[in-house]
Amino acid sequence: MQAMSEPEPPPEPAHRRRPRYKGTHPRRFEEKYKELDPQRYPELVEHVRSRGQTPAGQHIPILVDGALAVLDVSHAVRGVDCTLGFGGHSERFLRAMPPSGELLALDVDPLQLPRTQARLRALGFVEPRLRVRRTNFAALGPTLHEVGWSDGVDFVFADLGVSSMQIDDPTRGFTFKHDGPLDMRMNPSRGFSAAQWLERTDEARLAAVFIEHSDEPHAERIARALARRRGQLRTTLTLAEAVRASLPPHLEAEEAERSVRRVFQALRIEVNDEFGVLDALLRQLPDVLRPGGRVAFLTFHSGEDRRVKKAFERGLAAGHFDALCDEVLRPSSAERRDNPRAAPAKLRWAARAHTR
Ligand SMILES: C[S@@+](CC[C@H](N)C(=O)[O-])C[C@H]1O[C@@H](n2cnc3c(N)ncnc32)[C@H](O)[C@@H]1O
Repeated sequence: MQAMSEPEPPPEPAHRRRPRYKGTHPRRFEEKYKELDPQRYPELVEHVRSRGQTPAGQHIPILVDGALAVLDVSHAVRGVDCTLGFGGHSERFLRAMPPSGELLALDVDPLQLPRTQARLRALGFVEPRLRVRRTNFAALGPTLHEVGWSDGVDFVFADLGVSSMQIDDPTRGFTFKHDGPLDMRMNPSRGFSAAQWLERTDEARLAAVFIEHSDEPHAERIARALARRRGQLRTTLTLAEAVRASLPPHLEAEEAERSVRRVFQALRIEVNDEFGVLDALLRQLPDVLRPGGRVAFLTFHSGEDRRVKKAFERGLAAGHFDALCDEVLRPSSAERRDNPRAAPAKLRWAARAHTR
């Protein structure tokens, strides 16, 4: 018999130095390698949280207890988290649901979703308790059909907008605090980036988007300035500078920063068609909820909240819903202190009528 040769040892992985940073604390996202590895550095992650900050690569879930209560999660057999993100809400839903409870979690982000899926699987949440699909929640009905839940679910939850992981990573182009490509797509493999959209959009449409999506008071003059720089606005800092330079000179610096923030928000909403997909999800609710089922939305600005409120009121008038929240739920002062990103959040809920 021929002697079997020893298998070659696998090649050593090439040693890569971690990024160096100036000073005592990392400032750039990619330098925060300790925060990005919470299993190895749990004390550091706790320390960052105790300072009211979100550790890099994480998202702190908002109004979790409120969501668990209004969705009656502890009695739910089937639920949907339309916006998985870091999975903070999903994890708490799974822990609160009965042992036979099953959750379907959706997200459009192809970069973040595999990380969250791996994190939740490592915690023991495997199929069928947790199904994860990369899809837009605008396709909720067909997705339920695909997983065999055409007869509906007990709750639907959506925590709208972008996650901290998306905002904090400058390569995604959502932040004007660091330079990065002006992208802003939650799914960067589809549609136009913010830079491409700016390049092909005329002044009138720019102004309309800044007004409709974020009530920007200086919309016209910003639109005029950005249209003049068509083709040159390719990074987040270039855009932020162009907006500042377009504003009336007497404006306070804080007011100018609010305009920059509103322009970034308006572009993000446009590039991701956030209102279009939200309307599509709202239209499907009466069909996807079982009688007595609950729905709750976490919204972060008036454009979102108005749409949810109106859809719930229309649903009540049509007899699809038989109860709505009287008042929105807001984060407590303690939650806002611990997580300043929670400050603008509003939680609205509705209950599907018992008869269809
Ligand atoms: C605010 S975060 C959710 C955070 C999550 N609740 C948690 O506890 O980590 C919003 C997430 O929803 C995703 N998202 C936004 N719009 C979406 C859509 N139309 N369809 C599916 N996912 C969407 C984003 O990619 C992001 O990951």
